Amino acid sequence: MGIKGNSKRFCRALPGLLLAALLLAACGKDEPQTKETELLLGFSQIGSESAWRIGNTKDIEEEAEKHGISLMLENANQKQENQIAAIRRFIAYKVDVIAFSPIVEDGWDNVLLEAQEAGIPVVLVDRDVNTENTELVTCKIGADFYKEGVMAGEYLIRKADSLGLEQVNIVEITGTDNSSPMVERQRGFLDAIAGDKRMKVLESIDGDFLKSRGAECMRSLLETYGDSIDVVYSHNDEMTLGALPEIEKAGYEPGKDMIIISIDGGQDAIDVLKEGRINCIVECTPKLGSELMETALKLKAGEEVEELIHPEEQVFSDEMDLTSIEPRGY
Ligand code: AHR
Repeated sequence: MGIKGNSKRFCRALPGLLLAALLLAACGKDEPQTKETELLLGFSQIGSESAWRIGNTKDIEEEAEKHGISLMLENANQKQENQIAAIRRFIAYKVDVIAFSPIVEDGWDNVLLEAQEAGIPVVLVDRDVNTENTELVTCKIGADFYKEGVMAGEYLIRKADSLGLEQVNIVEITGTDNSSPMVERQRGFLDAIAGDKRMKVLESIDGDFLKSRGAECMRSLLETYGDSIDVVYSHNDEMTLGALPEIEKAGYEPGKDMIIISIDGGQDAIDVLKEGRINCIVECTPKLGSELMETALKLKAGEEVEELIHPEEQVFSDEMDLTSIEPRGY
């Protein structure tokens, strides 16, 4: 397969082919010493906004290596236009399978149509797209974000019961606007608390899944609502870790004066949960690489694949024995 040009990272195939050429030259034999790579996967990653994302990239690189798949990995640095350009490059290179984590839900139809016309299957990893033409995407591998939101809401109801709270004022720091985890984590949470009259969302504010924005959002929420905040529901660990020092600077003890609920379950946040400064973390695993590679191999072999794969996820909270949590690896 002819691959060259400006791919940002390109594991395995080129070193393999180079090695084969060198061995041939050294040994003077006619037979190549290494087989040409059989599957080329183009993957467009959103960026490096969180420990979750960095863990996800690492997992995909490691699993590609393990499965003997050549990976053309491009980091879009948080820009949809970079992802669209990367997908166009994958089409031009005639990769076997395209995979990507769409930063937002809308705006993919044209480029997906181009992939379809080129006959290249597209796998969504982690996040979802919003399209009426469901045939543009072959399958999706990623968390059930709605369920994550529901689990966060159900934890809050149990916590409010155990503390005997009569009124629960919530502030929500959301992920990137129009991204599927933002939309679904909000929808699931609101559905879960809808029947509980004690619950009131004071404000939802866009923290873009970033630590620095988590801090900014929290400062602004504290200025507006101060003492009335009972709960901070944050759509990822990164923003939670940004928000906590702001709560402390304002003179409150997170985990005690305010109930803190987060999503992801990276090691740094789990350590803070163990300290009692976070009350609950709903797991969202970044370890999607193995399923992605298995799926890509099946697609290349012309086999059927599952349309939707959700990994198993759990809740870590002050309701459990926290010493039982295994090292998270991200
Ligand atoms: O799409 C998954 C989300 O994206 C994770 O919760 C977050 O940490 C990441 O940036």
